[in-house]
Amino acid sequence: MSRKSRTVLTIVIAGIMSLCAVHTYAQQEKGFSSEDLGIRKESLYDESSETPLHGEPIRKEPGESKRFERSFENSPPLIPHDITGMLPIAQTDNLCMGCHMPAEAGATGATPIPKSHFVDLNTGMELGGNLDGDRYNCMQCHVMQTTITPPVKNLFKGEFRDKKGNYRSNLLDVLNEGVTTE
Ligand code: HEC
Ligand code: HEC
Repeated sequence: MSRKSRTVLTIVIAGIMSLCAVHTYAQQEKGFSSEDLGIRKESLYDESSETPLHGEPIRKEPGESKRFERSFENSPPLIPHDITGMLPIAQTDNLCMGCHMPAEAGATGATPIPKSHFVDLNTGMELGGNLDGDRYNCMQCHVMQTTITPPVKNLFKGEFRDKKGNYRSNLLDVLNEGVTTE
């Protein structure tokens, strides 16, 4: 190839490459904006008009409300009653325990805290009726049910192997299911 035709070829290739770059850029520009994505239809950089829904929490007092069906086997049950005045939970003060500890639950009608919460799940050690430290902050796992219409309908349907599993948990009894130790 002569020197001249090599120069021409280089110019042609460079031209094609810059055309491609312009095309890709134009395509990106045409792409989706954050307002087109998701279900909020709002810019990801501005949350002033779409604030999170908080819903209306349950106002029924403990003892007056009805328990919810569990979402799936051994899921943490939703709190079905008002918790006004019970928070914050502090290390020296946990009102939830006042009603839900097994010794109190008979009298208050509350579901007793299950066996799994009285065992150190890392070691399997029974804690002699004392609540495991990791379980102290009930609200980390148990949340209140509120009335919010979800923007997308939830089609999930929990399966329960135990007949009573939709209202009771048995995690500690089934935790090692299928695990063999030698
Ligand atoms: C005054 C007693 C009392 C206090 C305090 C209390 N509860 Fe309850 N709780 C109940 C009763 C009674 C029920 C059963 C439903 C009902 O009758 O309201 C219940 C139900 C529940 C359930 C549902 C259990 C199930 O089987 O579905 C959860 C979860 C729960 N409470 C968590 C909490 C948490 C977390 C706190 C602290 C923020 C708390 N409770 C404070 C009495 C109490
Ligand atoms: C780390 C998460 C976690 C924390 C913290 C926690 N729970 Fe639970 N809880 C669960 C899960 C998961 C279940 C269902 C499986 C099981 O039995 O362990 C459950 C089940 C329960 C049940 C239903 C028992 C039954 O027989 O059906 C009650 C009542 C309960 N918890 C109360 C409490 C209270 C009160 C606290 C705070 C003192 C608390 N939990 C802290 C995760 C948690």
